[in-house]
Amino acid sequence: MHLNHSHLRSAAAPLILLFIFTSLCFSGASCFTSSFKLHQVPATNVSLEFLDPTLPPAIPRETNPKCSVLVLQRDFADTVGSPPATANYTQPPDCPAPWTRVVLELSFSVSDVQRDRVAAVWVNGAEVIRTTTPVPTFPGGAFWKVHKDVTRYTSLLRHLGDAGTVTMRLENSNVTSFPGVFSANVSLHFYRGAVPVARPATIGTAHPTVKGLYREPADLIIPISCEKGAEGGGFWLLVNNDSHVPAASVTIPRNTYRAVIEIFSSYHADDEFWYTNPLRSSFQGQLGTSRANGGFRQLYATIDGKFVGGHIPFAVIYPGSINPYFWSPVTAIGAFDIPSYDLDITPFLGLLLDGQPHEIGLGVKDSQPYWLLSGNLHLWVDAWSDVVEAGLVEYSSPPLQINRHAEWRNPDGQSEVNAEGLIRFSGWVSSSKGNITTTVRQKVKFKSQVEVQNRGAVKQVEMTNKERTTVAVAKGHQTVGRVQVFIEAPLQVQTSSVNAIGGAVFEKTRLYHQLQEIVNLNENMAVSTSSLTDRQDAEGSVLMHDGAPVWGSGSTRSSYKYRDENTCYLRTVNAAGGVVKFDVASPQCSAVASA
Ligand SMILES: *[C@@H]1O[C@H](CO)[C@@H](O)[C@H](O)[C@H]1NC(C)=O
Ligand SMILES: *[C@@H]1O[C@H](CO)[C@@H](O)[C@H](O)[C@H]1NC(C)=O
Ligand SMILES: *[C@@H]1O[C@H](CO)[C@@H](O)[C@H](O)[C@H]1NC(C)=O
Ligand SMILES: *[C@@H]1O[C@H](CO)[C@@H](O)[C@H](O)[C@H]1NC(C)=O
Ligand SMILES: *[C@@H]1O[C@H](CO)[C@@H](O)[C@H](O)[C@H]1NC(C)=O
Ligand SMILES: *[C@@H]1O[C@H](CO)[C@@H](O)[C@H](O)[C@H]1NC(C)=O
Repeated sequence: MHLNHSHLRSAAAPLILLFIFTSLCFSGASCFTSSFKLHQVPATNVSLEFLDPTLPPAIPRETNPKCSVLVLQRDFADTVGSPPATANYTQPPDCPAPWTRVVLELSFSVSDVQRDRVAAVWVNGAEVIRTTTPVPTFPGGAFWKVHKDVTRYTSLLRHLGDAGTVTMRLENSNVTSFPGVFSANVSLHFYRGAVPVARPATIGTAHPTVKGLYREPADLIIPISCEKGAEGGGFWLLVNNDSHVPAASVTIPRNTYRAVIEIFSSYHADDEFWYTNPLRSSFQGQLGTSRANGGFRQLYATIDGKFVGGHIPFAVIYPGSINPYFWSPVTAIGAFDIPSYDLDITPFLGLLLDGQPHEIGLGVKDSQPYWLLSGNLHLWVDAWSDVVEAGLVEYSSPPLQINRHAEWRNPDGQSEVNAEGLIRFSGWVSSSKGNITTTVRQKVKFKSQVEVQNRGAVKQVEMTNKERTTVAVAKGHQTVGRVQVFIEAPLQVQTSSVNAIGGAVFEKTRLYHQLQEIVNLNENMAVSTSSLTDRQDAEGSVLMHDGAPVWGSGSTRSSYKYRDENTCYLRTVNAAGGVVKFDVASPQCSAVASA
């Protein structure tokens, strides 16, 4: 999707499309292409607002930012292959660092029918957000806003001076069948003084370690990216397969005492639907492409070729995927702010503190063409030392145990991928803060099952990922801090399809997707726990032709619940037929929001 590789055309208003359906089904694809334009005769010029039904606002309503800066404003019309949009940025003079909070706001509109696209924003070459654009189903266009707490990137914003750049990439093709032009505004809101915590850290990541155990943002962020990025610019590293691990050469300050690698990712072309992949080479998926590798992927990083940690990515469902009518006007979990993944590599600092360049690589296990990755190396430096010492004490990294099993009798059958693993890294860093040992422990249990029945007409996908990551910090034999993040992410998709006339396929789908994250933070003898449950249930139908939806309907129930010692926040949003039917947020998790 998203780049110029999308199979998805677009979706449009049901009534008009019924008309297209009757004209396309007897004459095949060429008829489809020409009649497809019909639905652009505006049925309505009302612009539709898309929303992320999951998160409370990043900007606390009761608090005004000290200052707000519109850093980039751009229309993306015909931008495939052109360099990304770049703007100079100067730190606002009346708004000096330090800031208690910085919030990035992306404000988008699209003028007409368009495909879903991937976009990203970089500050001085370091990615700060990756996002997808919804599929506007009405010619009236659409608009939406994305807020992200970017306080952890403060060092990039603070050091900008007058030499800083903000870059945004959104490859769009405004051909006649998809005339939609995207308009985007990128703004930064700077807060000083006390700022109430409006919402927890970003989903699906170990970000709480940064906010909790590592309260202060990093002193320095080094991008792990490519100056002339993949696919025509934008700093991305392209990963084509399992054995392809692009790397960047990085030299870090010799007084670094803590390091975290943050990985951003999105998946495209053959791996766009990796999470529904069967294990079989010749399987023709419901979207008509052969996808072999099963439904397991792992993002990981290496230092000079040595594995230093990984995460199984959360399956973000793109706005055009499965049934685009599920994602209008709500988005799938994480689609507006694709989760990034943190790897605490402090135990490995002994390998990096020699003042020499080292290769930091990023890879995707079991990947197919292609993934777009980038990384940020967050570094904390000891201002009271010129050089700190460090050593790796324990490195236990047995490869994940992966069991693959497939049984097919064309076109039916089933396949399964199970993965399990336990890794443990430990290392000490001796700085002005003392001789501190950091231990990272991660346990993973993953299962993906795909079953196809009734001569290919019924497909069931089930996936569950359970991951427990613990980072413990000890001085001598005394543990001084510990953060534990437990993630469970189940996904179920059931699709039954019936062949319609003219080569079209009518598909009925039910979907259940959830992200549960529990964070236990143990610091200075104080213990705190937070939990997040983000769930979506959707069902609906879509008529596909040539891999593109031409008619459809869908209803989606979303519920987002966050709880810690002081707060409980519950939001429930039900959408059906392209409109929000119910949207209630309860700051006390009272029953009214759970209708
Ligand atoms: C929408 O349509 C109405 C009626 O045709 C027209 O008056 C109005 O100017 C249109 N608005 C936009 C934004 O095009
Ligand atoms: C696409 O956008 C470009 C640049 O704005 C413009 O010149 C061109 O006419 C547009 N094409 C269509 C089909 O709207
Ligand atoms: C940014 O600043 C540089 C020099 O400071 C200048 O050459 C360049 O034209 C500026 N770019 C924009 C988009 O204003
Ligand atoms: C971007 O900002 C300008 C100026 O404030 C405003 O006119 C425009 O509507 C904004 N565009 C979007 C997509 O928010
Ligand atoms: C993996 O991708 C790299 C880079 O595109 C390519 O050079 C290599 O041949 C690929 N390997 C396999 C086994 O396909
Ligand atoms: C730090 O502690 C580790 C054991 O915990 C020890 O092996 C190492 O030598 C110590 N480093 C320094 C510089 O004292």
